[in-house]
Amino acid sequence: MRKYLTLFLTIFAGVAVANTQVAKDINSTVESVPPAYTNPVKDAGNIPTTFPHQPPLVPHSIRGLQVTANVNQCLGCHSPDVAPTTGAPRVPESHFMTRDGQRTEGTSPRRYFCLQCHVPQAEVNPIVQNKFDTIREHQGK
Ligand code: HEC
Ligand code: HEC
Repeated sequence: MRKYLTLFLTIFAGVAVANTQVAKDINSTVESVPPAYTNPVKDAGNIPTTFPHQPPLVPHSIRGLQVTANVNQCLGCHSPDVAPTTGAPRVPESHFMTRDGQRTEGTSPRRYFCLQCHVPQAEVNPIVQNKFDTIREHQGK
């Protein structure tokens, strides 16, 4: 009898532990709630950078623009040959270099997926608050 009781208690303890570790309903976890749909900020000219070597933020909507293996619509306005006509800031020289400093014909593969570094902004309530101060703010400028 005692043997069975121990066995029973062991199993019961196991169930209790499992219960506390696994979420009861996957749909009620924080991760499963999609972020609210937000409108990008209206084109407001270039956004000041906040630290050295920061990839500038995208100051315009990118809705519907594709960057895939076959097409890069950002370059449709930003590539050096069209930039003078579109008025978009030209993709800088650094984007045409391999990591060994060799100039590439088109944009370097390292810089092809623009949104890896350049991100648009939206007015949202951040999930994690952050107290980052730019150097300028910190110096009171
Ligand atoms: C229809 C033309 C057009 C397209 C397409 C376009 N841009 Fe722009 N972009 C502009 C213009 C014009 C500016 C200058 C600022 C402004 O007027 O909003 C700009 C500004 C920027 C800047 C700011 C540069 C700086 O020095 O601050 C970044 C970064 C940028 N775009 C990234 C992108 C990315 C990434 C994509 C693709 C997802 C893209 N753009 C697609 C026209 C375009
Ligand atoms: C690996 C990160 C990275 C990727 C990918 C990348 N950029 Fe940049 N970009 C930067 C950084 C960092 C700067 C600022 C320093 C510099 O000029 O290199 C910059 C600067 C720029 C500027 C500002 C030029 C100016 O004169 O103000 C434009 C425009 C731009 N990038 C467009 C693009 C476009 C379009 C793509 C995609 C084809 C792209 N970038 C991909 C990191 C990146």
